[in-house]
Amino acid sequence: RVQIVRAEGEGVINKSIKKEEAKVVDFLKAPEIDGKAVMCRCWKSGTFPYCDGKHVEHNKETGDNVGPLIVSKE
Ligand code: FES
Repeated sequence: RVQIVRAEGEGVINKSIKKEEAKVVDFLKAPEIDGKAVMCRCWKSGTFPYCDGKHVEHNKETGDNVGPLIVSKE
């Protein structure tokens, strides 16, 4: 079994925003779009620029707390 050991902070995308929160998810209202779009901010999504949930694995591996930006009409 291979264990990946990272230096503290290695691979972390979010270095300073809301670090006290387990996961940072932000919301943006954009009246001109239909429905909603969930945008990736961890850069690991297989459907980039859209979030596919890979931030969960990224956060677990790196200790990060990044989450998506959710853009919706209302
Ligand atoms: Fe990147 Fe969700 S997959 S924020």
